[in-house]
Amino acid sequence: MKKYIVSSVFAILLVAVLQGCFRTNIGIPEELKPTLPSVPFDYKDQSFWSSNFRTIFDNSFMKERFDYMNNDVITLGRVLFYDTKLSVNNTVSCGTCHKQRAAFSDVTALSRGFEDKMTQRNTPPVINAMMMNDLFWDSRSHSVQDLVLKPVQHEVEMGMESMDILTQKLSRTEYYPELFRKAFGSVYISEVNIQEALTQFVQSMISAGSKYDKGLDNDFVDFNPMEKMGYEVFRSTKAKCATCHSEPNFTVSSFIQTNPTLDISGNFFLSPFMGGDVVLMEAMPGGGFGGSYGVTSNTTNIGLDVIYADQGRMNGQFKIPSIRNIELTAPYMHDGRFNTLDEVVEHYSKNIRPHAPLDAKFMDNVGGVKPIGLSEIEKQALVAFLKTLTDNSFVTDKKFSNPFKP
Ligand code: HEC
Ligand code: HEC
Repeated sequence: MKKYIVSSVFAILLVAVLQGCFRTNIGIPEELKPTLPSVPFDYKDQSFWSSNFRTIFDNSFMKERFDYMNNDVITLGRVLFYDTKLSVNNTVSCGTCHKQRAAFSDVTALSRGFEDKMTQRNTPPVINAMMMNDLFWDSRSHSVQDLVLKPVQHEVEMGMESMDILTQKLSRTEYYPELFRKAFGSVYISEVNIQEALTQFVQSMISAGSKYDKGLDNDFVDFNPMEKMGYEVFRSTKAKCATCHSEPNFTVSSFIQTNPTLDISGNFFLSPFMGGDVVLMEAMPGGGFGGSYGVTSNTTNIGLDVIYADQGRMNGQFKIPSIRNIELTAPYMHDGRFNTLDEVVEHYSKNIRPHAPLDAKFMDNVGGVKPIGLSEIEKQALVAFLKTLTDNSFVTDKKFSNPFKP
C-alpha cells in the first residue's frame, strides 16, 4: 500500500515536471498578467531630486531626451523589463538579475541566466544609466538604446533565438497588443518599439534623492560628524576617490552622454558640466579637484590583481562605476569579489597591486604603487559617507517595481 502511494505520488510529480518542460519547450507563455495603475505613473516627476541635481540635469542635453519620454511608453517598458517571456524558456527577466531592492543590481557575485549558467561578470546596478557614457564593465556600450536588446539574445542571460520570435511571442499574449497600442498608437509589435520602451524605462530610472542629494540643497546640515569627515576624505587629494567617482553622479562620465562624433573619433570626452560641478565644489570647503576633471579616459585599472582573469576593456581596465546606492549593491567590483564596503576601502587603503596600466593616481614617481594609507577613523568615516548615497525613495518606488507581483 505504502509503495503504491509512493509510486503514484512519484508518477504525479513526473507528469507535473514533464508538463512544465513541455510548456516551456513549446514556448507557450503562461498567462501571468501585469497589474498596472489605471492612470500611468508619472515618470517625469522630479520632486524627489535635489534642486542642485535638477539644475544640472535641466541645463544638459538630457532634458530634451527626458521631456520626449512618454509615460505610456515607459509603462510598457516596465512590463517588458519584468516579463520572463523575454527569455527563451520564460524563466528570466531583466529584473531577475537587476533587483530593485539591490538598486537594480544582483545580490550574488555572478547571476544565473535562463539555463542556470552563470554570467561572467557581476550584475551592475541600473542607475542614472541615461547619463553614462560607459555601459557594461568593459565599456563596450555607450548608450542605453544600444544596450537594452543585447541581454535578450545573450547566450547566458535570456537566450531568445531572434527578435522576430520574440515579437511573435508577445503578439500572442493578451496584454501586449493593448500596451503597444497605448504606447505607440498601434497593436503591431516591432523590435524597434520593444527597444524604445525598454530604453525609456531604463532612462527613467533616476536616483537623485539620497541624503547626500538633500545635503547639496541644505549645506549638509543633516550629515553627522562622521559623514562630514567621510565626505572630506572622499574628496581629499589623499584618497582621490572623487577624482574618478566624481559628483554628482559619482562616476567619471557623470552627465557625459554619448556624443556620436566624439565616440567615433576616440575616447576623449569633455564634460559640458564642468562649470556646474565646480560651483558645487566651492559650496564645500576643502574640495581638492585638480585639472584631470572633465577630460578623461573611460576605463581604468585600480590594481585589484597582478594578473587579471578578466581583461575587461583591455589589460584589466574596467569602467568607473557610479557608486550611488553603493550600500545596496554588494557584492562589489566587476567580479563581485568584495562583500562589504570595509573590504573595498581596505583595498584602496593598502591592497592595491602593481599592474601594467595601474591608474597613475595610485603610483609614486618611479612607477611603484603608492598606497593611500587611511587611518582607522578615516576608513570608518569614508564608509559612513558612502552610505549617505543610499536613495530609499528609488528602491521602494512602485513605479519601478515588478508589475507581475501586485
Ligand atoms: C542573467 C542576468 C541578467 C539579465 C537577465 C539581464 N542582465 Fe543586464 N547585466 C547583467 C550583467 C552580468 C551585466 C554586466 C555585463 C558586462 O559588463 O559584461 C549587465 C549590464 C547591464 C547594464 C549596464 C549597466 C552599467 O552601468 O554598465 C544595463 C543597463 C542592463 N544590464 C540592463 C538590462 C536589461 C534592460 C535587461 C533585460 C532586457 C537585462 N539587463 C537583463 C546581467 C543581466
Ligand atoms: C583611478 C580611478 C579610481 C579612484 C581614484 C577610485 N576608484 Fe573606485 N573604482 C574605480 C574602478 C575602475 C572601479 C571598478 C573596478 C573593477 O571592478 O575592476 C571602482 C570600483 C569601486 C567600488 C565598487 C563599485 C561596484 O559597483 O562594485 C567602490 C565602492 C569604489 N570604487 C569606491 C571608491 C573609493 C571609496 C575610492 C577612494 C578611496 C575610490 N573608489 C577611488 C576607479 C577608481
